[in-house]
Amino acid sequence: MSKDLYNIAVVGATGAVGKEILNVLEQRKFPVGELTLLASERSAGETLTFKGQHYVVGLLDKADFKGIDIALFSPGGSVSAKYAPIAAAAGCVVVDNTSHFRMDPDVPLVVPEVNPDDVAGYVKKNIIANPNCSTIQMVVALKPIHDAFGIKRIVVSTYQSVSGSGRVAMDELSAQVTAIYTMKSPEKEVYPHQIAFNCLPHIDDFLDNGYTKEEQKMVDETKKIFGDDSVKVSATAVRVPVFVGHGESINIETEDPITPEEVRQILSEAPGVEVVDDPEKSLYPQQLTSAECDEVFVGRIRTDDTVENGINMWVVSDNLRKGAALNAVQIVELLIRDYI
Ligand code: A2P
Repeated sequence: MSKDLYNIAVVGATGAVGKEILNVLEQRKFPVGELTLLASERSAGETLTFKGQHYVVGLLDKADFKGIDIALFSPGGSVSAKYAPIAAAAGCVVVDNTSHFRMDPDVPLVVPEVNPDDVAGYVKKNIIANPNCSTIQMVVALKPIHDAFGIKRIVVSTYQSVSGSGRVAMDELSAQVTAIYTMKSPEKEVYPHQIAFNCLPHIDDFLDNGYTKEEQKMVDETKKIFGDDSVKVSATAVRVPVFVGHGESINIETEDPITPEEVRQILSEAPGVEVVDDPEKSLYPQQLTSAECDEVFVGRIRTDDTVENGINMWVVSDNLRKGAALNAVQIVELLIRDYI
């Protein structure tokens, strides 16, 4: 029942991810029919541009989802919790970028390079969840290795940019840097401590087990996306004073013997991955050079000889693109190719 054009809503259109969704839809020439942009009363009435046309942002509270084919949500977990089911009940397929539905067994959690067939499960609730940004880039890099060598255990430490906390956090980092250089005291609102010139081992709330929710998401979501509960994951998530792009130091232990050359070979052919690994020439993935790119960049691939079959690597991707907007749009591309 494929159509020529699809009516699309972007919920949270004025946010860091929402704006990137519009960029990605335009860049990938997605067949957009009517476009509905929604946000809160804070920015309803503002104008955004898509394909050279101006669109006035509407109020989510007053939105009617009838006639909208697909809604891409990124307004925050509690807002999605309330409005995604309303949109889904109106017959619209929701791709939700928040954590709210990710572990719901009736909601597929999809990374197109890893588990594209899981999209089919959208029929249960008319909702598909987009995984956590740090999880997405990790599973894109690790799934081909898991398929070839069987990953037993993953130890990951993240270096996550402030855009993962939204537009307000990007403003906070830049205001703090300006304040410090002009001898004023930096103000903090989004983070509990100054983020400029600092790193915070604290992303999302702390759980009773001492981990943060962000760290727990990486554990739970990886198992769901791999469809394999046996993979052990241990995560430490750190916020760093970078605007866009997440870095990850990843250590894996595999069932079968593995060499850096084999990893380079497999990843050089893996969808969505680019190997940048020539340390002699100071070539390795960096946040600055990954921003606005679609790929998951992998480098510093080397043996960990403290375990039997161990590999260390450094993985970087643009958290607003592959970590959020691009992955969501790729899910929608699968939906219209095979399902609606
Ligand atoms: P608004 O501009 O009206 O605040 P970010 O993650 O970059 O902070 O962006 C969050 C996005 O979600 C923004 O577009 C924001 O709109 C939107 N949003 C936040 N809360 C609500 C809400 N209660 N209803 C609708 N949109 C919301």
